[in-house]
Amino acid sequence: MSDKYQGFTATPLGKLLVKNLGLPNPMKLERYVEGAPLVDGTVVVGGRGRLAESLTGILDLLGISATEAAADGERYKGLVFDATGITSAAELSALRDFFTPLMRSLDTCPRLVVLGTPPEQVSGSERVAQRALEGFTRSLGKEVGRGGTSQLVYVADGAEGAVASTLAFLLSPKSAYVSGQVVRIGATGTTKAVAVKDWQRPLGGKIALVTGASRGIGEQIARVLHRDGATVVGVDVPQAASELQALMKELNGDHLTLDITAKDAPQRIAHHLKEKHGGVDVVVHNAGITRDKKLANMKEDRWDSVIAVNLTAPERITRELLDQGVINKNGRIIGVASIAGIAGNVGQTNYAASKAGVIGLVDSLADELKDGITVNAVAPGFIITAMTAAVPFATREVGQRLNAMSQGGLPVDVAETIAWYANPGSTAVNGNVVRVCGQMMLGA
Ligand SMILES: NC(=O)c1ccc[n+]([C@@H]2O[C@H](COP(=O)([O-])OP(=O)(O)OC[C@H]3O[C@@H](n4cnc5c(N)ncnc54)[C@H](O)[C@@H]3O)[C@@H](O)[C@H]2O)c1
Repeated sequence: MSDKYQGFTATPLGKLLVKNLGLPNPMKLERYVEGAPLVDGTVVVGGRGRLAESLTGILDLLGISATEAAADGERYKGLVFDATGITSAAELSALRDFFTPLMRSLDTCPRLVVLGTPPEQVSGSERVAQRALEGFTRSLGKEVGRGGTSQLVYVADGAEGAVASTLAFLLSPKSAYVSGQVVRIGATGTTKAVAVKDWQRPLGGKIALVTGASRGIGEQIARVLHRDGATVVGVDVPQAASELQALMKELNGDHLTLDITAKDAPQRIAHHLKEKHGGVDVVVHNAGITRDKKLANMKEDRWDSVIAVNLTAPERITRELLDQGVINKNGRIIGVASIAGIAGNVGQTNYAASKAGVIGLVDSLADELKDGITVNAVAPGFIITAMTAAVPFATREVGQRLNAMSQGGLPVDVAETIAWYANPGSTAVNGNVVRVCGQMMLGA
């Protein structure tokens, strides 16, 4: 399933038309290659705040080369600015002072990150200024071009030591299709991080449950979690049993063939994980379906089946695993929402309700979880899979271009985001919903 338009823009005729007609020009995004360094180049660090002192040490730990003094004529792969010291609107000019001289010195697919303080944790003019960072980073994401991304990371007071896994993700090609996002670290739950022993295989010895694992995004989630060291237990419906078994065999994983909407599915999953694996560390609720119709034509079965698979099943399975204590300490619960659950979409009242409900599940559990267990969700935009291949051509074409990167994302982009949440170092990353959408123009 390739992007034909992107292929065309790489031809001599395509290049000519793009240039002369001002057509969208999707750049080939750099993606992470197993074993490669996290950042292929140098990151410039600036700003003065709570994180400034520790930043270079954290980047060093991750094997990322960093400098505080940019040199003329050099190209940089990333910029990180500590804005936690900004306490008034007037001081926001420090952003301009740092970024403006560097904007023409960026390499391909550069990564821009601003670190701030969650506005709700401060007051007065500091709160105003910290909230302003959001408009800055979101606009930067739309301006940076060349496959670049821009993010805002709000780091709660006391969570300064918990940012490594997030910087590893946001500064590397693993976040290829994530831009214009606001992440909160330590805002709910713990502010502490668990030390990561091996950054190449952070999930070594961990068990990861992935629903809908036989194809599409679920297959890539299984592959990426396996790459990071996890033993994957894939779940899918009986109709997909042979694909599921083949994939799990390839990944030295385990499989469970069942319909997650079955009455006894939560109990069967809990029993299997307890008996065969002694528990579970990462739970990814990926299985999902669409049954699109405008509400005026919506039959009961279309409504019910979408809510049952996308929302009720993740809710029931999570509850059962928590109640039975099957999720290990420092465990991860990860939902797969959708941009439709944020922005709404014609013909998708059922789907959007289910996906907004997944965000509700994150909100409702985030404050409740104990023992370092976190809950977060991804909200994919247009991802090139069998699900989107079924979308009519014109809608598909428009859907793919309506984002800052003028292209659809790949299943691996969603999987890498999930692997960041799953990382044992992400204990303070709780209650987040991050869009994997190339900064789509739809929604917030
Ligand atoms: N593709 C996109 O652009 C996109 C965008 C936003 C969100 N999403 C979400 O990402 C997830 C994966 O999407 P995809 O594009 O890979 O879809 P897909 O249809 O390719 O794969 C979904 C998988 O879930 C399985 N599944 C469905 N119902 C099930 C059930 N009752 N029990 C067990 N397994 C079941 C299917 O058999 C299939 O293997 C879904 O939750 C979807 O809503 C996808």
